[in-house]
Amino acid sequence: MDRALLLGFVLILAAAVGGTIAVASSRPHERARRPKSPRETSRSRRQTGAPTTATELVISKAPIAEAGSTMTAVLTQQVEEVSPEESGMTRRRFFNRAAGSLFATYGLVLGTSMLAFFWPRLSGSFGTRVDAGPIKDLKALLTTSDGQPSFAVVSEARAYIVPVSEPELATSQFAQPGLEVDGVMALWWRCVHLGCRTPWCASSIGFECPCHGSKYNLLGEYEAGPAPRNLDRFAIELTKDGRLIIDTGTIVQTPRAPSQTVEYPRGPSCI
Ligand code: FES
Repeated sequence: MDRALLLGFVLILAAAVGGTIAVASSRPHERARRPKSPRETSRSRRQTGAPTTATELVISKAPIAEAGSTMTAVLTQQVEEVSPEESGMTRRRFFNRAAGSLFATYGLVLGTSMLAFFWPRLSGSFGTRVDAGPIKDLKALLTTSDGQPSFAVVSEARAYIVPVSEPELATSQFAQPGLEVDGVMALWWRCVHLGCRTPWCASSIGFECPCHGSKYNLLGEYEAGPAPRNLDRFAIELTKDGRLIIDTGTIVQTPRAPSQTVEYPRGPSCI
């Protein structure tokens, strides 16, 4: 999974857990502070046998503390109903809090997504340096079982790896530092006309764009169609341990090839 997305999920999860803990820990405190609602008061009274009407008089008798007196005094206590406003948790307040929580969660998710989107990608994806793997494994894919030239795909770099021999390179437009390494080049698979992905055609041994019919040979040299130039290519290099690195941040454009360096088409076209 992408590192930035993973970070986003972790942040959301941490916020959710933190919020749940905060709410859970605050409830007993709030309950202790908050006056009882009428329903709670009524329930409490029913359980204790207390009066349940809204405003009631509780009458009790107490002896007058005078020596020899047989009189009693009547004591009264008024029990008043607690209104919803006084109870501290009205329906309006509940919905206000719910709406606030909802907006806070939405803002958190939105902020995390934006952070993940703009998080710098330093390697491993398009626009950066992509490790395409051991070059010997890639080169093993560049020849078919019947000896025909072929290509390899590096999806993370949106690149085709194609073979190029020394003589071909010497007579092409691509004999410049950084475009060829150990007999391979890396082409951007994007058609230079309007950007369609240009698929491989095994019968003609080249790349043929189905969108408007541009055609390129094995090295990505322009052959036909509305494309204004050859397929673009990436700078590449080889690590000490033999891995091919494709620098998808360095794109090299070349004009239409004046002549074909390699034969094309070698069979029927695919489009
Ligand atoms: S996009 Fe490839 S020919 Fe138009």
